[in-house]
This record gives sequence, C-alpha cells and structure tokens, in this order.
Amino acid sequence: MPIARAVDVSTRPLAVTAAGVPLVVLRPEPDAEPVVFADRCPHRLVPLSAAKVENGRLRCAYHGWEFDAAGKCVELPSQDGAPPPRAGLSPAPQVRVRDGMVEISDLPPTDPGELFTNEDPSLRRAWHPVGIVGIDDMSEVELLGQTYRPAEERTQERWGLLWLAPEEPLTELFDDPDHDDLNYVGAWLPPARSPASAGIVADNFLDTAHFPFVHAKTFGAAEEKKVERYAVTDEPWGCRSVQDQWFDNPEDPGVAAGLRPVRQRRRATYVYRAPFQLMLRLEELDAGAVKTILFFSQPESLTSTRIYTKMLFHGIGGVADPGPDVIRSEVAFEEAVLEEDLDLQRTLRLPGLPLRMRDELHVRADLLGVHMRRILSQFAQPSAAALGRPAKD
Ligand code: FES
Ligand SMILES: [Fe+2]
Repeated sequence: MPIARAVDVSTRPLAVTAAGVPLVVLRPEPDAEPVVFADRCPHRLVPLSAAKVENGRLRCAYHGWEFDAAGKCVELPSQDGAPPPRAGLSPAPQVRVRDGMVEISDLPPTDPGELFTNEDPSLRRAWHPVGIVGIDDMSEVELLGQTYRPAEERTQERWGLLWLAPEEPLTELFDDPDHDDLNYVGAWLPPARSPASAGIVADNFLDTAHFPFVHAKTFGAAEEKKVERYAVTDEPWGCRSVQDQWFDNPEDPGVAAGLRPVRQRRRATYVYRAPFQLMLRLEELDAGAVKTILFFSQPESLTSTRIYTKMLFHGIGGVADPGPDVIRSEVAFEEAVLEEDLDLQRTLRLPGLPLRMRDELHVRADLLGVHMRRILSQFAQPSAAALGRPAKD
C-alpha cells in the first residue's frame, strides 16, 4: 500500500498513517532507500517521527537510543555494553518505491496494550490537587473528565493547594518535612498544562536518563549519560530512591572563592506515592544547599493534565535564606526545564501510561518507573483487603 511520495521522504523522519497505524518513514542517508517503522520507540513508546537521523542512525528524542537502518538498537546511552536485542524496532515492513510512491507490503504490530489514562475509574479513590488556594477560582474544577464543585465535595488543604477526593481515598498525602521547616523558602511555578496523561507526566519526573537529551539546552549537556545503578525502597502505596550523582555547580559561590571544585556530589531523593504525588529533594553535598521540588498533577481529562510545581530552598547561592532574586532565577530556570519536558510530552500520541511490563522495554535506569507502574497497577486493581472490604470466601 502507498504511504508517502518518495520526494517527501528525507533524513527528516516523516509521520504517516496507514490503515490507522502510525508509521515513520525516512532515509537513513540522503541517497538511501526509504525505510519504514512503527512510529513508536520500544522503550517508552514515544513517536520516532520526533527522532533525529545522524550518521545513518535514528536517535530517539527521549533517551537517545539509536537504531540502525534495519531497526537494530545499536546504542543505549544509559548503560554500558551492547543493547539487548529486544531493544530493537519491531520488524520493518518490506518497502519499495514505485511510480514515485513509497509502498509497504504489510503493517508492523502496534498494539500498545492497555493504558492507564486520566479517566481511569480507580482515580476516584485518591486525593487530587484542583488549584492553588487564594489564586485559582475553584468554584468548578475539571477532574477525571468531569466537572466538580469543591464546595460540595471531600476536600483538604495542603502545601497551599486544595485537594479533592471524589471517593474514600486509598492513601493519604505524603509528608514533606522541608515544607514545614522555617529554614526553607517556598515558591510556586505558574501551573502548567500537558496533553499527556498524569501517569506519563509522573514517569517523566521520575526519569533521569532523559536529562542529556531532553534538557540539553538547560542543564542536560553536562549530565552523565550513563545512569548509575540505584536502589528503590517500597513504601505504602509508594516508593523512594536515594541516588548520589556528580554534577557541575558553577553557581556555588564556594567555587568562585576557590573553596571547592565545580564538579560536585549531589544526593537526589525521589519520593513517589500513588497515584501522582511526587517529590525530589536535591542536596548539594559539598556546597550544603538543599532544593526540594514538590510536583503534583491534576488529571483533568483524557487530553489534559494540570501540573503544580512548588520549590523549597535552603542555602542556595551560598546564603541560608535566599533572597527574591535568587528565588526568581531558580523558578525561571525550573520553568525552562519543565518547558523542555512539556515539549517532549506534546509529541506523544498515547492517551495513557502502559502498565503491563511487556508493552514497553524497561532497562536498568527505569527501576523507579517500573516500581511506579507496579504500584499504579495495584492501585487500579486493589485487592479487597486493601479497599477495607471483607474478602469473599
Ligand atoms: S529512547 Fe525512545 S523512549 Fe526512551
Ligand atoms: Fe525532564
């Protein structure tokens, strides 16, 4: 079947659809014959039409996996050694050019499996943020594909946000000691919207392997591509991971004063609780500063997630109590970082997060994302005991 005009096919990947199946067509080199693949990276299912072609290889925009003209994964930057064969693209259909048209003989398999969307019924049993108190008009709010009037629902206030749970929640909000600590200064980012589901947004937040690729313009260029092995500890309806990383800290006044090298150690603690409560605590171990990011998502509808980011600072810029200029520039920087993630999320086409392990290709760096998927699966289908109902005999 014809899928594109041959003259339109270049080293710039082109998204096309055949019989409802999203495909990507490209030439690995300017004069090479066209090749066609399912428009989906096997890792996190992001469209390969957002990928770049370089030296005959297709490089995915999210984590930089590289595929050769036959679809074999030849580079997997987050880990050493040869990529596993399963990391390759599903077999490419036979392609030929006839009468100026690129034609394919068959369609690649593309079933993404079952997806956890923003309207999953289980999400009714959870607390969701619906607005910033004192800033947002909350007479009516969008949540899980419906309109709610918070005044008539079960609500609570925490971290300056109003939270709403349509039904008895399975789990409470987590604690954040930094928020209640007067040594920390807090600041909100303006709330943002993503067309991706809250599950995908959360997975993106827990992911570090994308830094060098998605955040190259802000902080990613200096980041290590390889992700060191890390451990994840389970908590009730959640998990936590502590990772020590190297990073460049040119803003540390101690560097300019010659007290410390620019390359420093940082401890990143990720905390996740179902369904979408997230926190990242960044401790600059050498400079003694701490930055905590609270990151919450409001699953508004199948195509919209509202994102609330609150930052808490201690000791940033070499002073215990950072002033308004420091806070402003930190917030502006974080906004630019979030915008890079949103740009990536805007290229996504799937309306939800796959929860079945076999529908994506997980590698070692994805341990946190794998834990989150397992926890969300249990959240979506909790046992009778977890719901507080007597088990059937
Ligand atoms: S490399 Fe493609 S989604 Fe991760
Ligand atoms: Fe990111």
